[in-house]
Amino acid sequence: MQQINPSDLTEQENYFFLTGSVIPRPVAFTTTLSKNGVLNGAPFSYFNIVTSNPPMISISVQRSGGEMKDTAKNAMEQGDFVVHVTDETYIEQINETSIAFPPTKSEVEFSGLTPVESTAIKTPGVKEASIRMECVVEKILPLGGTENKPACDLIIGKVVKYHIREGVLSEGRIDANLLRPVSRLAGTQYEKLGEIFKLKRP
Ligand SMILES: Cc1cc2nc3c(=O)[nH]c(=O)nc-3n(C[C@H](O)[C@H](O)[C@H](O)COP(=O)(O)O)c2cc1C
Repeated sequence: MQQINPSDLTEQENYFFLTGSVIPRPVAFTTTLSKNGVLNGAPFSYFNIVTSNPPMISISVQRSGGEMKDTAKNAMEQGDFVVHVTDETYIEQINETSIAFPPTKSEVEFSGLTPVESTAIKTPGVKEASIRMECVVEKILPLGGTENKPACDLIIGKVVKYHIREGVLSEGRIDANLLRPVSRLAGTQYEKLGEIFKLKRP
């Protein structure tokens, strides 16, 4: 076993070890609204559940040169956002939304995704997703980097509405085979669902 001290590595080397090790990662396609009403969309694979009481999720949005990305800025200004579960039916369009556009240009429009009004928050979602979650910002934590230049904004959102297509439900639960999620590995590699097996918990 090789022992490696993270402090001996560059940021990029740490990035390679982390994104190659923490796999597969689910991808949150996230929409936010700018203060000028532009619907922003971007994928985030630093994405997970925080708790189910009440339901909360987190996405970690990296900064570039200490600057907040549009998603973090908009979520902070508006106080809400929508997270969509990535699946095989629209992964190419989601990938297109990762383009670095200025805040005045909508990645949702660019990728041909279809905006749909939310029912509990201001920010619209997109129709293509089988599962989308309307979220209100619970906390935004600047972390890492230096005191004046954090490396990321960890956004924690409380889910205030689920939209779930009946086609992915089986006996009231979400069926992974019907959802066909896509997750991210390292670099340009993605993964579709592999073999599913069961283990009984002790
Ligand atoms: C599949 C995928 C996953 C990504 N995950 C993240 C992530 O977890 N955190 C992050 O900061 N950027 C991530 N990115 C890059 C952002 O999507 C990209 O920087 C985007 O332009 C940010 O949009 P915004 O500036 O409108 O917020 C990812 C890109 C792709 C294609």
